[in-house]
Amino acid sequence: MVNELKPGKDSYMSISEVLAHRVSIDHFDPKGVVSDAQIAELVRSAQEAPSSFNIQHTRFVAVTDPAIKGRLREAAFNQAKITEAAVVFVLLGDLRAHEDYAVRIRAAAAAGHVPAGVAEYLAGTALSFYANPTASREEGLRSAGLSAMALMLAADGAGLGSCPMIGFDPEAFRKILGVPERYFPAMIVVAGPTAPNNMGRKPRLDVNEVLRINGAEFPG
Ligand SMILES: Cc1cc2nc3c(=O)[nH]c(=O)nc-3n(C[C@H](O)[C@H](O)[C@H](O)COP(=O)(O)O)c2cc1C
Repeated sequence: MVNELKPGKDSYMSISEVLAHRVSIDHFDPKGVVSDAQIAELVRSAQEAPSSFNIQHTRFVAVTDPAIKGRLREAAFNQAKITEAAVVFVLLGDLRAHEDYAVRIRAAAAAGHVPAGVAEYLAGTALSFYANPTASREEGLRSAGLSAMALMLAADGAGLGSCPMIGFDPEAFRKILGVPERYFPAMIVVAGPTAPNNMGRKPRLDVNEVLRINGAEFPG
């Protein structure tokens, strides 16, 4: 664990320290292993990410099989970390997640957990909000981004390195993994034990460059 209390250290990392601690890893230990139980634990943490209406659009395909990772690497511009990282998480956006949500919230109402009127309002709003395929795709991307960040922080907390990735061919990934049409590969997160000689923290723009308060007076 990265964030454990060590002798002589009397407090855990603050949230800002945790955020600054995560970096994208280039070099993973090719012999590193992440168990199925640990993968499930990481995904459980990633599911803490928020989602619109709590629809939970993200699905996770975890790939540890070297042969499948080899094929994914070919479809990811031959990026070595795809085969060197112990696990490749492919985050899928569910284009029809709002439909399942409507079924779920109505079932919750039928079981007496939510007032029927509230459930009907939420189901109806979600269904009309995401009837437009572009809106549902954008929501899938937003959700995958938030899930990916939660997943990477969870990996960091477990002492593993990680890297978010968009350098891949989504349609090739779809074929390799047999992803049904209703889902789309939104992004990848690779994770695993790291190798030496990784870069440290990369600089960020100054807050003065990225923040305006009560208006967006950025240079046009
Ligand atoms: C959406 C997204 C896509 C990325 N795609 C790749 C990628 O395909 N390959 C890669 O090596 N790094 C990729 N990165 C990692 C970025 O290069 C990295 O996050 C950035 O340089 C900032 O460094 P840091 O993550 O260490 O803070 C991606 C990051 C994001 C957020």
